[in-house]
Amino acid sequence: APAPSSDESSSESESEPLQDQPSSVAGPIPAEVAHQILPSDVVKSWSPVKSGGQEKLSVQKQPAKGKEKNERKPVSYVSIERDAEIQEARLQLPILGEEQVIVEKITEHDIVVIVGATGSGKTTQVPQFLFEAGYGSDAIPGLIGVTEPRRVAAITTCQRVKKELNIPNVSYQIRYEGDVTEDTKIKFMTDGVLLRELQSDFLLSKYCVVVIDEAHERSVNTDILIGMLSRVVPLRRKQNRPLKLIIMSATLRVTDFTQNSTLFATPPPVVDVGARQHPVTVHHNKETREDYVREAYKKVCKLHRTLPPGDVLVFLTGVQEINRMIHLLRKTFPEKAADEGDKEAEKTEDISAKPVQLDKYDPYENKDDSPTEVIVQAAAPDQTDTKEQESSESEDEDIQPTPHDRSLPLLALPLYSALPPDQQQRVFNSQSDDYRLVVVATNVAETSLTIPGITYVVDSGKVKTKEYCPVTGMSQFRVVWVSHASAEQRAGRAGRTGPGHCYRLYSTAVMGNVMEKHTEPEISKKPIDGLVLQMKNLNIHRILNFPFPTPPSLSLIETAEKELQFLDLLKPGQTVNNTPVNKITDLGKQCVHLPVSPRFAKLLLLAVEQNVTQFALTLVAALSVGHLFTGPIPAPFKPRAGHARLLGDFMVILTAVGAWEHSGAGQPWSAAHHLRYRALIEIRQLRRQLANILAQNHSVTLEPLLKPPTPGQITSLRRILTVCLGDHIGKLEEGTGSTDLYSTEVVEENVQLHRESVLYGLHTEYVGFCSLEQESTGVKMRVVFGVEEEWLPTLLPNKCTFSDPLDQPPPAYSNVSGEVMCHRTSTFGVRSWVLPAVNLP
Ligand code: CDP
Ligand code: MG
Repeated sequence: APAPSSDESSSESESEPLQDQPSSVAGPIPAEVAHQILPSDVVKSWSPVKSGGQEKLSVQKQPAKGKEKNERKPVSYVSIERDAEIQEARLQLPILGEEQVIVEKITEHDIVVIVGATGSGKTTQVPQFLFEAGYGSDAIPGLIGVTEPRRVAAITTCQRVKKELNIPNVSYQIRYEGDVTEDTKIKFMTDGVLLRELQSDFLLSKYCVVVIDEAHERSVNTDILIGMLSRVVPLRRKQNRPLKLIIMSATLRVTDFTQNSTLFATPPPVVDVGARQHPVTVHHNKETREDYVREAYKKVCKLHRTLPPGDVLVFLTGVQEINRMIHLLRKTFPEKAADEGDKEAEKTEDISAKPVQLDKYDPYENKDDSPTEVIVQAAAPDQTDTKEQESSESEDEDIQPTPHDRSLPLLALPLYSALPPDQQQRVFNSQSDDYRLVVVATNVAETSLTIPGITYVVDSGKVKTKEYCPVTGMSQFRVVWVSHASAEQRAGRAGRTGPGHCYRLYSTAVMGNVMEKHTEPEISKKPIDGLVLQMKNLNIHRILNFPFPTPPSLSLIETAEKELQFLDLLKPGQTVNNTPVNKITDLGKQCVHLPVSPRFAKLLLLAVEQNVTQFALTLVAALSVGHLFTGPIPAPFKPRAGHARLLGDFMVILTAVGAWEHSGAGQPWSAAHHLRYRALIEIRQLRRQLANILAQNHSVTLEPLLKPPTPGQITSLRRILTVCLGDHIGKLEEGTGSTDLYSTEVVEENVQLHRESVLYGLHTEYVGFCSLEQESTGVKMRVVFGVEEEWLPTLLPNKCTFSDPLDQPPPAYSNVSGEVMCHRTSTFGVRSWVLPAVNLP
């Protein structure tokens, strides 16, 4: 078994002194240096540096015996014996023809951009080119780091490259797990992992080359990494130990990186990997139907019955839709569904997510899609369709649910991020002439993962995104139209191995009138509190001046800074141009090292102080991991009365995770109790990781969660939650239980408790909540606990306005504490809730 290496903010660099460096570059960048190289007060300070640097690979310091000559012919620096079959497959990849060029460019330049169609071999081959060219060897010591925006890509690519290279030194690291050892040469990781490493080692001294993959996805972390690395690269050049940076992107708008003079003064060279793309015929539906799952099902049935062999890739938006589709296909084409592997798959948590609904689903009558999702309708009229692009099929022709008559069986497999890795791998290993493979996927299959040999693509044209409102912090899952760029990418999946067909389940009018040209970068759509805190920790005070490929909006930055200030993680520092510049506090510095949102990081630190660490670890891990339940919450998990009930939905989490641990932590138990097994495993891993990090500065040990919290511990947890969620408090305004309406300082309108909350209908006077979500029936508070009124002025004094104590009765002397106490009344927050008089020291 691989050695667990879960601590990603690790101090590994300390145990690996760089012998050839006169002054160690490990460790966080000192403030003075940061100011020098990242002077944050002047816009000019971000002036970009030339990406050039004509020096050869730096081997002067520690020349490997007799190998200098290889500088000229770097491609075969390290020789690898590959499996014949693998080598043959590699030679089919367009990027193989560019190996020499890529290695030369990266030898001559510090920064290189590689552009190539999805499937051209960038992700799997470039790390191997680098390895073979001597990166990671004695001549160019250091790790080859590759970042991926998605966990699934980091793991599967690691496995693939390890297999292709036939060496064990290929590892991965994601937030929860990894198998990095001292011998690791190539390290695949999520972009978040590398961003955290920058905190403790700004110059990334462990690495000799960093590959930023999937840059076109424009994930927040990737954008920031590129901005940071644009500054790190010249610093490493100055230190005579160059760090090479490769930015890889699908053929989508790379000008944000290359023609961006705030990032790179001289545009870095671009290697374009000639696409080996076969023609794809695109067919549009005449009409755009609302129930695209049904349309997709019909299309696949028809295609399977009438078209020649060839595998199919279907793009839907989420796990439930995918499972429904798989279920329908397996029912209609049962031969291959009887396969034992599939039976196994059916049993696992995700497939059986909603067994009741699945059984009842009738594709011919029930048009009901998952009701909690807002479906954005096709708004455009369909008259403007052009003839040549319309599908020649009659769309109204119904597909009869007869058992299929062709000899070719069908194998339907799901693919999405939350799928366990072994099941993801099945998609890559399941191609066969004996049946038609139908992969039903989310947009993870759009660019991150290339499934070989797809001939037909069925595109719903939809994607599920989480939309975030920077002003209210409210988020909402929406299914929206993809951009033109995404639609093209999806169609392209059909032409990898031969001519293909793409069936779009929407009209050309929708494409022309409704869809955006490009997908907005994520940085304009997500909370950036964690990011702002990390940047402040690097002494980057003026976030707006940072060289972002696309800067986040001012309101996003302001919201983040306001929240961090409320949490005491930032405080106003000196004033520049009449605006105080927020600086990180000591508490903020402690929070930065915990790989969870700053709010939860603070919660953990308070919990350590109050001796409720084990419970807080579980809560924070569970909330970071996401969906815990696959169905209705079983009654035994719901607290019925007393203290436990006041801890509300947080108590449910503790009970569920605790009961599972207590039961022996098995998969069948979790399935029987509607718990997502994969989530429970991740909670375990994250708990361990968080405990390890806390243990560096506090006396914390990880204990199994075998006992529920005592009433005293519950009160402590509620008080800590009140402090950390003090800007998310609701006060009961009107209602009689299920109609209860609460006022908050977040949004103008009154809000309700979510129906799933255990406090729903209980008429609790004050509640704290994790998030607000917009639903069709109003704004709902999610993950809720009960707050005591008298805690507000004591625990959240900064949110209160106190009456002048001199107006109050004379001070009283407390014989318990020996302090002078005075009575004060207070009002809370912007809504000015009047709170009762309390004693304050
Ligand atoms: O990164 P890019 O999209 O350019 O291509 P890639 O991910 O490196 O994929 C290159 C080839 O390797 C494709 O034909 C994939 O199907 C194949 N591959 C695979 O067979 N198994 C994997 N786990 C990953 C890629
Ligand atoms: Mg790739």
